[in-house]
Amino acid sequence: MSKNVLVTGGAGYIGSHTVLQLLLDGYRVVVVDNLDNSSDVAIERVEELAGELAKNLSFHKVDLRDRQALEEVFAETKFDAVIHFAGLKAVGESVHKPLLYYDNNLIGTITLLETMAAHGCKNLVFSSSATVYGWPKEVPCTEEFPLAAANPYGRTKLFIEEICQDLRRSDSEWKIILLRYFNPVGAHPSGYIGEDPRGTPNNLMPFVQQVAIGRQPALTVFGNNYSTKDGTGVRDYIHIVDLADGHIAALRKLSDPKIGCEVYNLGTGKGTSVLEMVAAFEKASGKKIPLVMAGRRPGDVETVYASTKKAEHELNWKAKYGIEEMCRDQWNWASKNPYGYASPNLN
Ligand code: NAD
Ligand code: WQD
Repeated sequence: MSKNVLVTGGAGYIGSHTVLQLLLDGYRVVVVDNLDNSSDVAIERVEELAGELAKNLSFHKVDLRDRQALEEVFAETKFDAVIHFAGLKAVGESVHKPLLYYDNNLIGTITLLETMAAHGCKNLVFSSSATVYGWPKEVPCTEEFPLAAANPYGRTKLFIEEICQDLRRSDSEWKIILLRYFNPVGAHPSGYIGEDPRGTPNNLMPFVQQVAIGRQPALTVFGNNYSTKDGTGVRDYIHIVDLADGHIAALRKLSDPKIGCEVYNLGTGKGTSVLEMVAAFEKASGKKIPLVMAGRRPGDVETVYASTKKAEHELNWKAKYGIEEMCRDQWNWASKNPYGYASPNLN
C-alpha cells in the first residue's frame, strides 16, 4: 500500500519539486501551505506534471499555527510521515522582524509536532540549512561541525534542530531526519515549476535570472576580495531535483529501526564562485549578465560547501547534476515564465 505523506510548505520552491518527485515515486501526498510566499499555480503545475498520479495529491490552504485547521487535516488522513518545509526564509527580513520569524517558524513547528504526537505520527523530515555552520573554520562542512547562527532566521533552524533532538530524547518513538540544505538552484527540467520569489530576489540565481530576462539591469557582486579562486564567495549549489530526491531517500531511511534524530547534509561537495556561476549561466542562456562590483554583503561567509559522505553512505543518495544542468534548467524556467507563476501566455 502506498504511503501517506504530509508536506508542509509544499507550494513553495523546494516543496513543489519534492511533492512532484513523491507523486512520481508512488506516494500519496497532502500539502498544507498558507501561500504566504507561494502560489497555488505551483500546485496546479505539479498536478499537470504528475498526470494520472495527480489523483494522489490534495492541497489545504492552512497556516501551521492554526491548530484547529491542522487538527482537521490530521483527522482526515493517517500520515506515515511529515516533510516539514513551511517557514519564512529571508535572512535580511529576519534581522528586521525577528518576532515574525520566531512566531512563524518556531510556533508553526511546535504546533505541528504537537499535532503529530497527538495523532501518533512520529516520523519527521525537517528542512534545516547550511546556515547553521556559520563561518566554518574549514571546508567541507561535516555534520559534526560546531554550529552557529548569524541571524534570527538561522537561529530558528538551530532552535528547531535542538527541539527535535530533545523530542527524540524524551520519546524513542520519534524518528527525525534533519536535512541541512546547501544552495538549491535550478528548476524542474520541464520548465513548468521553479523558484518564484516575491519582490527583488535576495539570492544569487533568482537575481541572475531576472537580469537575463531584463527585469534587473545588472548583478551586484557582493565582494571580490575574498581569499577564494577569483575573490568572490564560494558556495555549494545543488540542483533542486537532486535536493527533492534527497527527501525521498530520507523518508526511506526513517524506516530504519536504528534511526533516532539524525542530521544529513544535502549538497554536491563542490564549491563554485559567484563568477563561475555567472559564466555557466551566460553559457546556458546565451545572455550577457552585466556585473557591478560592490562591497561584501553583511553577514556573508567566504566559502561553504558540504561533506557529502554521510548522506552517500547512510541515505544512499548522491547529487547527479552539475552547474551546467542547474543553469540550463534555471534558464528554461526563466525564459518560459519570465514573471514566474504570474507570467502571461504560459509555456
Ligand atoms: P519557500 O518560501 O518557497 O517555501 C516555503 C513555503 O512555506 C511557502 O510556500 C510558504 O507559503 C509556506 N509557509 C511559510 N510559513 C507557513 C506557515 N506558517 N504555515 C503554512 N505554510 C507556511 O521556501 P523554500 O526555498 O522552498 O524553502 C523551504 C524550506 O527549506 C524552508 O524551511 C527554508 O528555510 C528551508 N531552506 C531553504 C533554502 C533555500 O535556499 N531555498 C536553504 C536551506 C533551507
Ligand atoms: C550566494 C553567493 C553572495 C546575491 C542564503 C541564506 C542561507 C540559505 C541559502 C536558507 C554569495 C553572492 C548573492 C547577489 C551576489 N537559505 N551574491 N549578488 O548567502 O549562500 O545563502 O541562501 O537557509 O541561509 O543565507 O546564498 O544565493 O544569497 O548568495 O554576489 O545579488 O552569491 O554574496 O557569495 P547564501 P545567496
